[in-house]
Amino acid sequence: MNIQNTDRMTVHLEGKAIYDIVTADSFDRLKEEIGALDIGTRKICIVTDSNVASLYLHEVSGILSGCCRYVTSFVFPAGEAHKNLDTVASLYEHLIQEHFDRKDVLVALGGGVTGDLCGFAAATYLRGVRFIQIPTTLLSQVDSSIGGKTGVDFASYKNMVGAFHMPMLVYTNVSVLKTLDEEQFSAGMGEVIKHGLIRDKEYYTWLLENQAAIHERDQTACLTMIVGSNRIKREVVEIDPREQNERATLNFGHTLGHAIEKLMDFKLLHGRCVALGAAAALEICRSRGLVSAEEVADYRKAAKAFGISLHVAGLDSKAVIAATKNDKKMEAGVIRFILLNGIGHAYIDTTVTEAEMEHALSAVM
Ligand code: GLY
Repeated sequence: MNIQNTDRMTVHLEGKAIYDIVTADSFDRLKEEIGALDIGTRKICIVTDSNVASLYLHEVSGILSGCCRYVTSFVFPAGEAHKNLDTVASLYEHLIQEHFDRKDVLVALGGGVTGDLCGFAAATYLRGVRFIQIPTTLLSQVDSSIGGKTGVDFASYKNMVGAFHMPMLVYTNVSVLKTLDEEQFSAGMGEVIKHGLIRDKEYYTWLLENQAAIHERDQTACLTMIVGSNRIKREVVEIDPREQNERATLNFGHTLGHAIEKLMDFKLLHGRCVALGAAAALEICRSRGLVSAEEVADYRKAAKAFGISLHVAGLDSKAVIAATKNDKKMEAGVIRFILLNGIGHAYIDTTVTEAEMEHALSAVM
């Protein structure tokens, strides 16, 4: 990895530039970036949740008012429990009342729930309208805002209904991390560390070496970290935008992580569950001789330093394994488990046994 900052990178699909990811230390450049999209005659609906609305809606709405014909907002109650079709239906109603047409634009201002939900509404309203991502949590800045996965939960199944729909811009203001609570920040770090583990040992080592600055949310360190993570995610989604193969490696830690998340009734944040799943998957890698005990210990030490607990209480490992069978990452009834063949080299493995999973879970339960 080339550790350097860049405030813009372009995501391509089939060799064609589709959207830019702009990383800034404030909302100051938002006007200019939206202005460049040529939507000055269109309407914008800002979709955000009740938490983010109280922090940033006024400021962002003020900026966007200067970039388009009309700005409205749709605010829904914060939390994963509202990432569902009912909230999407309310958003459709709002857009219909406001006479939004196919050329108007939605803006997702918030974390992963907001980005996924707004993106799904954008993918489906009038068979598809354009949307912009303004991610405000670490997890959404490094992961969910990039790559065009959109969707909502259905019954108790996470992201069960969705669509691939690319944003027209991702604008990341790193300074909003200052208002992010500790739990959300450390959950985001679960995904950040995962990016290093699956694809870039140099980036992973940089993260371990810069733990203190990142933990203190030093703006320069956070900017470098987010750009580094964005590079990895961009590389993967450009190779395999629709998760036929390579993109599945981003699911490292997700098979057991999702099962834990479901059994915990989504009360444990996604990034934390991914970190637990990653610790368990690393245990499988260690017992297969793919990574060393020292490398597993380094991961556990780093997770701890970033405030991520690698222990979950009150779950039964057999129930966790049973829950993996409903994972939508299964293919023809076979679990596509992501393992590492050394730090920085993820691959898809279809041979992981229940006994291996059970042993691995003992590392986190
Ligand atoms: N969060 C995993 C992906 O975007 O594929």
